[in-house]
Formats: sequence, structure tokens, C-alpha cells
Amino acid sequence: MNFNEKNILITGGLGFIGSNLARRLVEHGANVTLVDSLIPEYGGNLFNIADIQDRVRVNISDVRDEHSMRYLVQRQDYIFNLAGQTSHLDSMEDPFTDLEINSRAQLSILETCRKYNPEVKIIFASTRQIYGKPDYLPVDEKHPIRPVDINGINKMAGEWYHILYNNVYCISTSVLRLTNTYGPGMRIKDARQTFLGIWIKLLLEGKPFEIWEGQQLRDFNYVDDVVNALLIAAERKEAEGKIFNLGGAEPISLHDLGNLLITLYGEGTCITRTFPAERKSIDIGDYYSDYSAIANELGWSPGISLHDGLKKTLAYYTENIEHYL
Ligand SMILES: NC(=O)c1ccc[n+]([C@@H]2O[C@H](COP(=O)([O-])OP(=O)(O)OC[C@H]3O[C@@H](n4cnc5c(N)ncnc54)[C@H](O)[C@@H]3O)[C@@H](O)[C@H]2O)c1
Repeated sequence: MNFNEKNILITGGLGFIGSNLARRLVEHGANVTLVDSLIPEYGGNLFNIADIQDRVRVNISDVRDEHSMRYLVQRQDYIFNLAGQTSHLDSMEDPFTDLEINSRAQLSILETCRKYNPEVKIIFASTRQIYGKPDYLPVDEKHPIRPVDINGINKMAGEWYHILYNNVYCISTSVLRLTNTYGPGMRIKDARQTFLGIWIKLLLEGKPFEIWEGQQLRDFNYVDDVVNALLIAAERKEAEGKIFNLGGAEPISLHDLGNLLITLYGEGTCITRTFPAERKSIDIGDYYSDYSAIANELGWSPGISLHDGLKKTLAYYTENIEHYL
């Protein structure tokens, strides 16, 4: 991969996936700028870049601020557009903030690129949440889009703005629909980003964690695999104007996942209970992705097993938990 000396902007760069991507790009010799608002309820955390802080530029600002973005997008070769409000429940309680960040700000970033840097290539992190409750499994990109929450609707708009700007204005964009992603740097203080985060926190604190129902199937990607996909999508011409699912190789029930976590950690307990009502109404049931399109067209597939990825993740938080509480 040739990112050496490339100018790269990562929106949401202090967050979980953005910071892991930044680390990899720095290793490739890229000039990396991170823009992040550090809103406390979201996943941004300066500790995520503690080991590379001297090798990246950090701009604490909000992607909703058109003046900051106008300055930041200029002279960039690539933008990895990862800033987002990620909590499904928060999107239901505060729909307009979700709209502003996940939809309006995305349009604004694209408009800014159209005016000030139309040569840039943009990779947008979308989500499998936009499919809603699957009609069939595994879910491929042809599955109907039927979001079950505000976040899904706004992320859907966000990704389609990217595709529109590719098709109409010839700004190169690619979209990846991420599934549950986990690994070092994810938010664990609550379940805003992922239930796996709060499970790990409680496990490490010696407290039982809750599994709601437990039979539902999910797939997971270790963050390094997602970083690979983002870089491949950036580099490859064939990815332009396209939307690809990411997915995990080993769908697993939440019940089995909880038990695997306890086995890998060596101790711990979980409690199975019914869904809280406000969660049940936006739950999607079983989900796992068909990622054969990106496998066939771009050669990406996940390389890190759930077993190995969870072990690395547990080791990371055992060492660093105080920075994530
Ligand atoms: N982690 C997953 O399982 C997952 C799954 C599907 C999609 N995604 C998508 O991937 C992207 C990255 O997710 P993540 O897991 O790293 O989450 P994250 O919360 O750790 O990262 C998002 C970052 O965006 C920043 N941010 C939020 N609003 C902002 C704003 N208005 N201006 C500037 N920065 C802002 C946050 O501070 C945070 O650092 C998101 O767009 C998310 O929707 C993630």
C-alpha cells in the first residue's frame, strides 16, 4: 500500500476505529490529521493515540463546523470519514443531534470537498444497522434497506450523499457498511458504542454482565480487519462509487459470545434477562453479513478469529482500563 507522504484526514480520528486507522497510516508514512469533537458521550479518547501523539496532527473541532472543515479538507489526498453519533438509543432520545452529525454534517463535508478539494478520495463508515430486521441471512448488499431507528435512517442518508457526490460530481467516494467492530480503543464505560464494551468492563471489574435474551446471532470484526478494509477501499479504483458490507467469518449467538469471553478471561459471570422495552423495539434480531462482494472484488476478508481478537482485547483493557472508565 502506498500511503507514504499522502495527506490524510480522519474525521472521528480520536475514536475507536479512527485511532487504530491513524496508527496504521502513520506506520505507512502518511501525514495524518485527526479531527474530533471529543463530545464526552461519544467514543473519542486522547489515550487512544497516546503512542502516536507526536506523529499526528490533532484538531479538536466539530464536523458540523463548516469553517473548520473548509480549512481541514484542503490539500488532503484522502478523507476517512468516521465521525459519527453511534448510539441507537441516543438517536431515539435526541433525534436532531443524530440528524445533524450523521446526515447534515456529511452533506456539508461533501459540499466543502466539492468546492475546495474535488480531487480528494473519501471513504465513509456506514453501518449494517440500516438493513433493519433481516429478511434473510446472511445479509448482502441487495437486501432491502429498512432502518429500525433514527440512527439507521441518518447513516443511510449519510452514505447515499457520498454515493451521489461520486456519481454526480465525480468526487471519488466508497462506502463500507461495518458490522459489530471490537478491539483496543473501543468505548467500554457504557453500551453507547457496543454492548461488548460494557460486558468487558464489568468482567474486568469482577461484576456480572447482562445478556438480553441471548439467542440472537451476530457477526464481529476485529478492528485491524476493519482498518485493512478501509485502506483497501481507499487504494482501489474499483471501490469508487461502491458500497460494500464487511462481516465476520463466525456468526455467534450472544449467549455463546458471553461464555467465550468468560472462558478467555478465566473467570466471570453473566445473567440472561429479557430485553428492556426501549431496546426491544429497535432490536434487529439475528444478523450476519454476506461479505462476498468485497471478498471477490477487492480481496478483503477478515483474518483475525473471534477467539484471538477477544484475547487481544481483554489483554489491552486489563492493562489500560483506567483510561477508559
Ligand atoms: N464500532 C462499530 O461497531 C461500528 C459499526 C458500524 C458502523 N460504525 C461506524 O464507524 C464510525 C466510527 O465508529 P467508532 O466505533 O470508531 O465510534 P467512536 O465513537 O469511537 O468514533 C467516532 C468518533 O467521532 C467523533 N465525533 C462524533 N461526532 C463528532 C462531530 N460532530 N465532530 C467531530 N467528531 C465527532 C467522536 O468523538 C468519536 O471519537 C462511525 O461513523 C460509526 O457509525 C461503527
